[in-house]
Amino acid sequence: MIKIRENKAYIEDVCCLDLKKHYGTPLYVYSVGQMKKTINELKKAFTSKYPNTIISYASKAFICKAMCQFIEKEGLNLDVVSGGELYTALQAGFDPSRIEFNGNNKLYEELEMAVKNNVGKIIVDGEEELEYLIDLSHKYRRKINLLFRVTPGVEVHTHKYITTAKEDTKFGFPLDEVLEQVKKVSDEPYLEFIGYHFHIGSQLFESQPYVNALNNITPLLKETYEICDEIKELNVGGGFGINYTDEERKSFSYFLDPIMNKIDEIFNHFKKERPVVTIEPGRSIVGEAGYTLYTVGSIKNIEGVRKYVSIDGGMTDNIRPALYGAKYDGVVANCVESEKKEVITICGKCCESGDIIREDIELPEVRTGDLILIRSTGAYGYSMSSNYNQLLKPAVVFVEGKEHKLVVKRQSLEELIMDDLEV
Ligand code: LLP
Repeated sequence: MIKIRENKAYIEDVCCLDLKKHYGTPLYVYSVGQMKKTINELKKAFTSKYPNTIISYASKAFICKAMCQFIEKEGLNLDVVSGGELYTALQAGFDPSRIEFNGNNKLYEELEMAVKNNVGKIIVDGEEELEYLIDLSHKYRRKINLLFRVTPGVEVHTHKYITTAKEDTKFGFPLDEVLEQVKKVSDEPYLEFIGYHFHIGSQLFESQPYVNALNNITPLLKETYEICDEIKELNVGGGFGINYTDEERKSFSYFLDPIMNKIDEIFNHFKKERPVVTIEPGRSIVGEAGYTLYTVGSIKNIEGVRKYVSIDGGMTDNIRPALYGAKYDGVVANCVESEKKEVITICGKCCESGDIIREDIELPEVRTGDLILIRSTGAYGYSMSSNYNQLLKPAVVFVEGKEHKLVVKRQSLEELIMDDLEV
């Protein structure tokens, strides 16, 4: 939530104009207070309410060393999906036993890094991964806890790029094929099967698909009990939707109560203890806590057509409008309210007509040099940023109360070509 004082936008108690002065733009800004508040709501609705539950932050939504340290302090686990995310977490000093390693097509070297560093859980996504893990477990003689990602075959209402549990997907094992993989584990001295994982999609506003997924995996759970005594853990993924413009964000309980009721019902029926239940929220923890600040540059008013207002970033720091048609809201941070308003299109500086941050938004009249704040850019903004057109990656700042600190410095031109070789 931004505050407005003397018609200027503040993030917590820091004026956006001061942030611009200190760090320049484009700038990603995170409200630490807002992240803490959201995590507390989540704990209240989940870990405090239901025993034996774990929140594992999906770091793909936003990761840097400072974020890993923040997540560790908040007592959450960390979900990583690549050697790079794992490396970042380890370099930040994150307790490896609280790291969960997800992702399709984990490479041998990535799994080796995980095994060598005693990562807490690995979520097996394919047959080859299991082969690699069998090999690695013998090589290092380390105990490895395994969950198997399954595809529960449910449809969800969201952008098709972010649905992940239909039958036609690259993720996980089909329900009727996973058990033969699980059986392989029972012969292995170092591998331990601890349970199943699914993730049905992202930016969701309905709880029913989670319940449907649980219904769909129930026969598998039953068959699993025929070959082993215990299912220790069930991971139901992330996906809880947030507000960008006019969405109506649902409470965490809206999702979690039906999920937990369903899980209780299933395991009561089996006369078994409820396993540990893990969730993997990413966007819902960081999305609304993140803001991007841009400076207005060129303004082109095409009479009777559209007024283009260019900012100093664009699809390089926020690919979501171009990739998913995502819609964002914003304010003019140096003049939040004004009688004189106009409809403008905020566009980036990349050589693509699709480089639009927000089409047709009504804002106070802007001039070159004004500061635009875009809301809800905390998830999948920085983490999906690129150097297209050799644009530099913005800095990242954490704000708490009146304090602000740089957690990722702005990329420099030297760093941009650091890996280029003389030939
Ligand atoms: N767990 C797994 C296995 C996932 O694949 C994902 C997201 C999450 C958890 C976290 O989902 P969340 O709570 O953030 O919805 N780049 C896209 C989103 C891709 C999501 C991929 N998986 C976007 O900007 O909308």
